[in-house]
Amino acid sequence: MLVRLMYASRPSPTVDAEALAAILRTSKEHNPRIGVTGVLCHCANARVFLQVLEGGRSAVSGLYNKIAQDPRHHDVALLSYEEIGERSFSSWSMGQVNMNRLNPALLLKYSETAVLDPYAVSGKASLALFNELVATASVNAPV
Ligand SMILES: Cc1cc2nc3c(=O)[nH]c(=O)nc-3n(C[C@H](O)[C@H](O)[C@H](O)COP(=O)(O)O)c2cc1C
Repeated sequence: MLVRLMYASRPSPTVDAEALAAILRTSKEHNPRIGVTGVLCHCANARVFLQVLEGGRSAVSGLYNKIAQDPRHHDVALLSYEEIGERSFSSWSMGQVNMNRLNPALLLKYSETAVLDPYAVSGKASLALFNELVATASVNAPV
């Protein structure tokens, strides 16, 4: 039983490049043990996190509940939750979206303006954006 969950949140003001690297390091260590894969997008300009988690239902919901209580972000909003037949982000224990390679035209394709605002668009649109980011090799493995 595989599920895919996507949420958005607002990073706390203390989240800098070092804090982001620490989050990715923890994810890379922990997620393989529980069979979770996914992608994390941190957009400092738009002050937003967008994360997709895929894996077994109990692993994903347990991890999501833990992440939602993490003081490094707030305003956690569940955007999408579905049972899936296969993973879309199986290559990454937790991939990182390279914001420098985020094409404004791609944002415009799914939203009213070229600003990443997952709170303003449907979960379906944010997932479609993530799928395109994967297809255009805009996702990196965290260092
Ligand atoms: C935006 C964000 C995304 C996170 N993603 C993950 C993740 O994918 N996997 C993970 O293990 N921890 C993730 N964390 C960290 C967890 O909230 C938690 O600190 C970590 O799992 C360590 O938990 P523990 O102290 O109970 O072992 C994330 C935190 C934030 C703020």
